[in-house]
Amino acid sequence: MGSLVNKRILLGVTGGIAAYKSADLVRRLRDAGAEVRVVMTASATEFITPLTLQAVSGHPVYRHLLDTDAEAGMGHIELARWADAVLVAPASANFLARLAQGRADDLLSTVCLATEAPVAVAPAMNQQMWNNPATQSNLTAIRKNAVRIFGPAEGSQACGEVGPGRMLEPVELVTLTSELFATGELDGLTVLVTAGPTWEAIDPVRGLTNRSSGKMGYAVAEAAAEAGAKVILISGPTALADPARVRTIRVTSAQEMHDTVHQHVAEANIFIGVAAVADYRPARAAERKLKKTETKLTLELERTPDILASVAALRPAPFTVGFAAETENLEQHARTKLENKKLDLVAANRVGADLGFAADENSLLLVEHEGVTELPVQPKAKLARALIRHVAARVRAKNAASVHVLRRS
Ligand code: PMT
Repeated sequence: MGSLVNKRILLGVTGGIAAYKSADLVRRLRDAGAEVRVVMTASATEFITPLTLQAVSGHPVYRHLLDTDAEAGMGHIELARWADAVLVAPASANFLARLAQGRADDLLSTVCLATEAPVAVAPAMNQQMWNNPATQSNLTAIRKNAVRIFGPAEGSQACGEVGPGRMLEPVELVTLTSELFATGELDGLTVLVTAGPTWEAIDPVRGLTNRSSGKMGYAVAEAAAEAGAKVILISGPTALADPARVRTIRVTSAQEMHDTVHQHVAEANIFIGVAAVADYRPARAAERKLKKTETKLTLELERTPDILASVAALRPAPFTVGFAAETENLEQHARTKLENKKLDLVAANRVGADLGFAADENSLLLVEHEGVTELPVQPKAKLARALIRHVAARVRAKNAASVHVLRRS
């Protein structure tokens, strides 16, 4: 079962009497944790006002393809990129026909063509229209294009007839939409993730740390859980709440993170080191608060254990992914880490004043022995899902190759 927490749902509303349920659907999607933006077709506005959907979604409603104001803010391409999933509810017979033809003559059909996110439709129409062979062949065509069809339900209809064609209830649509995110790509696997900064004590009240907020690592842990994995998250000090469906263990220092990782790594199939672990710590932490008696104070630092390298050196080692935070020569530094630490993959990100650390968006360069894959700037939750998809494909390929070798020997 997936979750809608932090998901961006673009709700398309087309013209049909079931549009009156769209306001309730928006509210329920938001209650489940999603951010919702609404696109309405011209005929949808005959059934429910944009003002109602603006009020319940908390965002302006998008209606026109060629609107200079909208295109200057969030135009059709931005909306298509923004969405984690597109749900069209209700989807009229006319809209299904236009989707089947790949039309791009209004905002909603254009967004459906332009998005990489999963698209689902909740049909709502008279039962004769639903049963008509033209509608059924449109459904076959859009299914072939990986569009998911939610419903319809059977029962009495607004027109007085009885049969299939009623839109599913909002509560059912919320559950089905959340399941779009449960990919099953990591079913049966255990993923160990580190996240956040570490804190290396100088004395009882002072320490060395860094600007990692934990957002990237927590997003990776959530994406892995969504993909079906059992996830253990070992987190340095952060202000974030424990992610749902993830076992979170809080630690403070690099040494504690190292020891906790090694208590759990034997059960992990995949290790992803997102934490910004301190490379050095004070050689001795003072037992009492240091007094400012001297004009200069010299701290002696020593190296911390390299958690990532120690995991990659295990035999057998899990599929090991390191992160690389770099200000320049991203690929070159990442490749050096990949080879020196004998990793399977390095996810490199550019860091700077407002890049990487603490930001809500990030981009990654995935560096592997075989080549490089670029994941462009996007919200960390979306980026984490793309990373997990990539890692899952690599792990599946590696497992298939080792089964092949075992069979031959
Ligand atoms: O937490 P956020 O605010 O969302 O920011 C995310 C991030 C920028 C911290 C994250 O995307 C990131 O880049 N994490 C790695 C940061 C880092 O420490 O990079 P590094 O190049 O110094 O380390 C390389 C790798 O070695 C990392 O996987 C790190 O976890 C690991 N390492 C480093 C030192 C050490 N002693 N042990 C380690 O395991």
